Amino acid sequence: MTDSWRAVAKVGDLRTGDVLAIEIAGTELVLGLDGERYFAMQRRCLHRGGDLVEGIVSRGHLICPNHGWRFSTATGRHADASEYCLVTYPVRVTNDQIEIDLSPKERTAP
Ligand code: FES
Repeated sequence: MTDSWRAVAKVGDLRTGDVLAIEIAGTELVLGLDGERYFAMQRRCLHRGGDLVEGIVSRGHLICPNHGWRFSTATGRHADASEYCLVTYPVRVTNDQIEIDLSPKERTAP
């Protein structure tokens, strides 16, 4: 069994509302801080590929800069159309290192 956790940043690199671009082994994703909770999800919007690193974190959602689609920072689901769901990744903090598990989270029913 391989360890799929990767250190991508340090605590203190992000302030609440920040979104960083992360690339690991060719996978593009974003790491953000929503309140006191880190989240990680795919970088490209499901609508027309907007770059979510330019998105805005607001009230539990990451809002695409292009046309305003809102995705839950907890689940990746579109706020109004649950059939659209970004790939999300588990995040943990270990010794001030923010780590992302590259194994996508399992989906739950909408
Ligand atoms: S590209 Fe994201 S809302 Fe249109």
